[in-house]
Amino acid sequence: MSPDQHFAAAAAIDGAASRSLPARPSVAVVGATGAVGVELIACLEDRGFPLSRLRLLASPRSAGRTVIFRDETLAVEALGEGSFAGVDLALFSAGSGISRHYAPIAAAAGAIVVDNSSAFRMDADVPLVVPEVNQGAAAGHRGIIANPNCVAIIAAVPLWPLHRLSPVQRVVAATYQAASGAGAAAMEELRASTAAYLEGRHYANTVLAHPYAFNLFSHDTAVDAATGSNGEEAKVMQELRKILGEPELRIGITCVRVPVLRAHSIAMTVEFERPVALDAVRAALAAAPGVRLVDDVARNHFPMPREASGQGDVLVGRIRHDASDPSGRSVMLFVAGDQLLKGAALNAVQIAERLLP
Ligand code: A2P
Repeated sequence: MSPDQHFAAAAAIDGAASRSLPARPSVAVVGATGAVGVELIACLEDRGFPLSRLRLLASPRSAGRTVIFRDETLAVEALGEGSFAGVDLALFSAGSGISRHYAPIAAAAGAIVVDNSSAFRMDADVPLVVPEVNQGAAAGHRGIIANPNCVAIIAAVPLWPLHRLSPVQRVVAATYQAASGAGAAAMEELRASTAAYLEGRHYANTVLAHPYAFNLFSHDTAVDAATGSNGEEAKVMQELRKILGEPELRIGITCVRVPVLRAHSIAMTVEFERPVALDAVRAALAAAPGVRLVDDVARNHFPMPREASGQGDVLVGRIRHDASDPSGRSVMLFVAGDQLLKGAALNAVQIAERLLP
């Protein structure tokens, strides 16, 4: 299927029979105290999401904690099977185990679930959505819509306009992934272990498997002995193929955790079917929703995680032909996006916004 056919097929699902949201939905955030949960609440507030009620759900450890939302003080409640009565939209970010158990309960109670975990992403009847690429697919949901892996989202946003410019055959990438991808506790471990290192104190890491300060290491998911890929790499490869509607797309990726707080970076080599001009690549990226070119060669100013943090665009730069491929078909890019925002909370809220009437 060509990229345009994929886009049309996804769009054609629009108007299908599945539920959409009322004009002012009642919303629940599951995992409201976590790194992504906090950003989900902030996105709902900052973007003026038209909700009638917000329920904040987390583990019993957090019950009673309060959060200010639109000048109102809301108490966090312990998640339970009865938490979803009257809820129209449930935004889940409390890990796969919680999603597997509670997302079907929320959907059965009448909510549309946008799930940030990996629990349902590769299920054939669950849309896996990046709004800039395949929002139309969301309309075919059966109660659960999956928010993709953070690297898959941040890579898909610039890959899609390039794929529409000229079919992409192969992607080779390496990631520089922030602490936030492992949750609020990992962000705290980065802060605390860095402070200890600078003060010459011993720090015993408890969240990640290796010393994090002034270090980097292969992503903390298990390596599959048969393929040599770790869990994160496998997710990114299969999810990108599903999002882009290209089941045969060739992808190779190395995922690495770096001591950065909250934005992921990716070095990507994109191989097209035919030679492409860099001007056309730049023009396609400049016009793409969700992309911001940061490509100031004179000042050596390119995407950086610090500049990507706290905002919603995917920054793209270092655009050049791959010198190892004289055919002119391969283009190299460096990309950075906020893992907590576009890589998680913002993407989920953007999916939900497009389900409003
Ligand atoms: P809590 O803070 O009460 O433990 P992160 O990804 O930053 O680690 O956050 C995980 C989120 O998932 C937190 O909001 C956490 O709540 C929530 N969570 C963890 N375990 C449970 C559980 N058993 N029931 C409900 N929420 C949970």
